[in-house]
Amino acid sequence: MRFDFDTVYDRRGTNSLKWDFFKERHHREDELPLWVADMDFKAPEPILKVLHDTADRGFFGYTAEKYEDKRIVTDWLKRRHGYEYDPDDVLFAPGVVFALTMAVRAYTEPDDAVMISEPVYYPFGSLVTDSGRRLVRNVLIHDEKGHYGIDFEVFEEQIIKNDVKAYILCSPHNPVGRVWTYDELKRIGDICLSHGVLVLSDEIHADFVYEDNKHIPFASISPEYEEHSVTFTSPSKTFNTAGLQIAEIIAHDRDKRLSVKRVMNRLGYMEIPVMGLAAMRAAYTGCDEWVDALVSYIYDNIAFMEKYLSDNIPVLHMTHPEGTYLPWVDFSALGLSVQELERLVRDKAKLWLDAGYIFGESGSGYQRFNAACPRELLVRAMEQLRQAVPS
Ligand SMILES: Cc1ncc(COP(=O)(O)O)c(C=O)c1O
Repeated sequence: MRFDFDTVYDRRGTNSLKWDFFKERHHREDELPLWVADMDFKAPEPILKVLHDTADRGFFGYTAEKYEDKRIVTDWLKRRHGYEYDPDDVLFAPGVVFALTMAVRAYTEPDDAVMISEPVYYPFGSLVTDSGRRLVRNVLIHDEKGHYGIDFEVFEEQIIKNDVKAYILCSPHNPVGRVWTYDELKRIGDICLSHGVLVLSDEIHADFVYEDNKHIPFASISPEYEEHSVTFTSPSKTFNTAGLQIAEIIAHDRDKRLSVKRVMNRLGYMEIPVMGLAAMRAAYTGCDEWVDALVSYIYDNIAFMEKYLSDNIPVLHMTHPEGTYLPWVDFSALGLSVQELERLVRDKAKLWLDAGYIFGESGSGYQRFNAACPRELLVRAMEQLRQAVPS
């Protein structure tokens, strides 16, 4: 294979949140960390090279983006997801969570209602409430196989009842692994548009999509959707560069671009980081083959994990992921309390996972894994789990 995803690197001592913060996060050093969405693969060679070259030159002063940088972003999105945004619509920010926070503050007023669909990436809820907005919790439904969906009647009722002003869409959806279909996105959009709800579409996981599923950019559905939505994306998940602090906000409507920029500037955020910019350029221009190989490797990891659980620990049920590298596993058949489940995972299986309840009450009884690691680590995690779960 041209790219190596099998090597297990020792990441301790690299200031890694995943590998260097056991004590600070009240975990034991012997737990295998499969929690935060950070991959245990080195960033691809073109990124390493440009960072080395930049470091060798020795200058880390201010920088700024050019039109060509925006074009690099839109070319990448066109190549990978088939939709061409206007480069003039792109703004840069240090991260998607920061960008979503700025967007909520720019597009809604204090006390306005902002809706999310739980279980969902947990900073969505806190960024809404920390911004002094009212959080409306829509809850996803699921069938007996663990396939999640939206109850559109309830979705619309909640929007009307709470006078919702913005909806944060997670597409693909972390942690339930859904890649929303055209019909689902269309229903979400039609409901939101008919009630004047702005859609904030977080598409950070768009590159991790499996089998016949296809990521459809929300804005691609129609010009009205593009006008009434803002898209958030970043190289940070795909290339494991979260620490380089660069993400993109794509807003077709000029007023929306100006107002979110104003909010960022008011907070003192002005320039993007020089290393982040260099990495972003390399990521979006020289790494397509690496991403194809990465997604295929992770898909095999996920398939291994799904089979391992069904063959060896059938009491646990894994939702079949259509996208993301974050398998969502139902432990509820064990009948354990939150504390008992935590003891099983941490003390017996010696794993550091993300407990499902942090993604919303409906995630209680679940655990979120991270399958973006060398196979050897995933095999080890599965064996530790098998030994810990009563047969
Ligand atoms: C849905 C989603 N949005 C945003 C982020 C974080 O993005 P950033 O590090 O750019 O703030 C994550 C990270 O896991 C995520 O899953």
